[in-house]
Amino acid sequence: MRAWVQERLRAPMVLKEVPEPSPGPGEVVMEVEAVGLNFADHLLRLGGYLTRVHPPFTPGMEAVGRVGGKRYAALMPHGALAERVAVAQKALLPVPEGLSPEEAAAYPVSFLTAYLALRRAGARPGEWVLVQAAAGALGTAAVQVARALGLRVVAAASRPEKLSLPQALGAEVVAPYEALSERVKALGGVDVVLEVRGSALEESLSLLKPLGRLVYIGAAEGEVAPLNPLRLMRRNLTVLGFWLGPLLLDQSLLEEALAFLLPRLGGELKPVVGGVFPFLEAEAAFQALLDRGHTGKIVVRVP
Ligand SMILES: NC(=O)c1ccc[n+]([C@@H]2O[C@H](COP(=O)([O-])OP(=O)(O)OC[C@H]3O[C@@H](n4cnc5c(N)ncnc54)[C@H](OP(=O)(O)O)[C@@H]3O)[C@@H](O)[C@H]2O)c1
Repeated sequence: MRAWVQERLRAPMVLKEVPEPSPGPGEVVMEVEAVGLNFADHLLRLGGYLTRVHPPFTPGMEAVGRVGGKRYAALMPHGALAERVAVAQKALLPVPEGLSPEEAAAYPVSFLTAYLALRRAGARPGEWVLVQAAAGALGTAAVQVARALGLRVVAAASRPEKLSLPQALGAEVVAPYEALSERVKALGGVDVVLEVRGSALEESLSLLKPLGRLVYIGAAEGEVAPLNPLRLMRRNLTVLGFWLGPLLLDQSLLEEALAFLLPRLGGELKPVVGGVFPFLEAEAAFQALLDRGHTGKIVVRVP
């Protein structure tokens, strides 16, 4: 079968003929139909993610495909950019009715992260949440999940043309990064920030109301700003770390998130697919993610 292989870190992937996957105990083989690309896949390819994988490996953490003829979504450490992949049976997730394979490939990471991050923050109906990079895959999921939880949303993005999408999804206030401070201060601050940029940490903290909570989810800009705990004292602020992978091992938390998300996906919640690339153009799909022109999730169709 064919798979994209990362033979060296920080290098282009190579499309290769590789042996069929041999499932270990508790694993099943999935016929992959679509792969959702995550910023984390890019970091893993650079060797800059929270876990390190030694090459050669096949990138891709999130797939939709057939297992025994039935369609599932699945999360995995890597390996999805292949015609078939062995996945843990317990990592299979239902595909909500009404979602295409591409839309289904766009839901697990982004919607589980959005829901669980807002839950980590203890966000309550009526509170204001600031969603950074709000036009991206996580951002568009977070705007929708926040609205479904009864929150009010400020959406921020790098370019003004990226703001119409989060606005259409229910954000009441939108701002390009350079106007963000002014707009949030006019509101009197926000209760929660979903921080994914990195260098914006200081600014995001300054936009929180007293007792506000910032969930640190990512640093897509590459820069990890230092945090001075003294900054948190004056207004009783909280900074929480968030990483989806280990949280998914908590079965009751996962069940709670799916109980909220699955009945709404395909209806009130709709994964935004920002681009669908053929299997042979997987490298171009990564480039689209890095060019920052995209909205929603970039998906690679397989085969
Ligand atoms: N901790 C977790 O478990 C977890 C789970 C999911 C996602 N994340 C994090 O959430 C963030 C969004 O991830 P995603 O997969 O949903 O991707 P995405 O939002 O579709 O794309 C990344 C976004 O980050 C912004 N960005 C800032 N600097 C960038 C750069 N140098 N290159 C590319 N994009 C840049 C871009 O928005 P603007 O142009 O509007 O700034 C872009 O839309 C990432 O930081 C990711 O690591 C973390």
